[in-house]
Amino acid sequence: MSKSIFRKELSTLKSYVPGKPIEKVMEEYGLTEVVKLASNENPLGPSKLAIEAIKKEAANVNIYPDPTGDALRIKLASRHGVEKDQIIIGSGGEEILKMIAMTFIDSGDEAVMATPTFDLYDITVDHMGGISKKFPLMDFEHDIEGMLSDVNEKTKLFYICNPNNPIGNILTRDVLEDLVARLPEDVVLVLDEAYFEYASRNPDYPDGLEILKERPNTIVLRTFAKVAGLAGLRVGYAFSSKEIISQMMKTKGVFNVNRLGQAAAVASMEDVAHIDNTVDLSHESLGYMMNYFDEKGLSYIKPNGNFIFVDLGMDSKEAFTELQKKGMIMRPGYIWQYQTYARISSGDMDQTKKFIHALDEVLSK
Ligand SMILES: Cc1ncc(COP(=O)(O)O)c(C=O)c1O
Repeated sequence: MSKSIFRKELSTLKSYVPGKPIEKVMEEYGLTEVVKLASNENPLGPSKLAIEAIKKEAANVNIYPDPTGDALRIKLASRHGVEKDQIIIGSGGEEILKMIAMTFIDSGDEAVMATPTFDLYDITVDHMGGISKKFPLMDFEHDIEGMLSDVNEKTKLFYICNPNNPIGNILTRDVLEDLVARLPEDVVLVLDEAYFEYASRNPDYPDGLEILKERPNTIVLRTFAKVAGLAGLRVGYAFSSKEIISQMMKTKGVFNVNRLGQAAAVASMEDVAHIDNTVDLSHESLGYMMNYFDEKGLSYIKPNGNFIFVDLGMDSKEAFTELQKKGMIMRPGYIWQYQTYARISSGDMDQTKKFIHALDEVLSK
């Protein structure tokens, strides 16, 4: 038998399942209009300031970008009261998750996480030859006791997705502080706060940067993909200790965030009203959905991000297909072993009403 040319981890590595693209559904079902509430994108689009910055920067794309994105890091540092060297930027939060695994995981090292949670934690850990120790949610919550009980000499990373994607609930300040008090200091705590701006409307939502102040072996991950509406440009960022950031820097793509992304991210930070309007709209959209679910007696998890996890009371695979026929895309829960659930992103009010109308037809069939 000839030797395999591939890394051995690839033989079992699962692939990330992204939301179904609009164009694909249009083509498959011969539709001209499709509403996609499947990838937690921003229905308001990017800030006008970001669009202007992108147009201005377009003339400079013959020049490589700043490899460390200093203008953006300086702005983030002053906004959040940390030092520039405590920040790293990535081609989306997804690249930062890769960097985290590349920085800490040697073959056989362990990482503790919930399931379901954001799928790139186990994918990035497994890719490095690490072992993902996955703890099923208990009544939709992280099983903190179970997760802590598994921490041992081999544990390098401990992932908390807050709010948890796809569920949308949070670990409250008390719960997180208790966890921090019990987690050994030499285990790196990864706090994924991709939906920070949405969740921080909840007074019980803890700010990971407060944890980082007291606990240097913590990484707080955020992104411009969601609330800033820059998903198509791929800009994420993370805060940690200077020591951790300097090691992570070695693993990143050299020019990982392109000029347009860096310029747009800086500009979008100026547009506080756009961020507020985005979060307001998301609350309005999810509020509309919750009213409908209440009327229908459908149970759901109270959302903290820009999406909601709801029990449709029917096979989610079938609901997914039937909704697509009507030009609607959501994320079916069966991909996370929640057979009758769906994760639905907030939309603008027109999209939201059309989606709920279509869902009502599917459920009434
Ligand atoms: C919990 C969570 N973390 C990280 C990411 C990655 O975000 P990005 O689009 O910046 O790669 C996402 C995106 O869906 C997410 O939901």
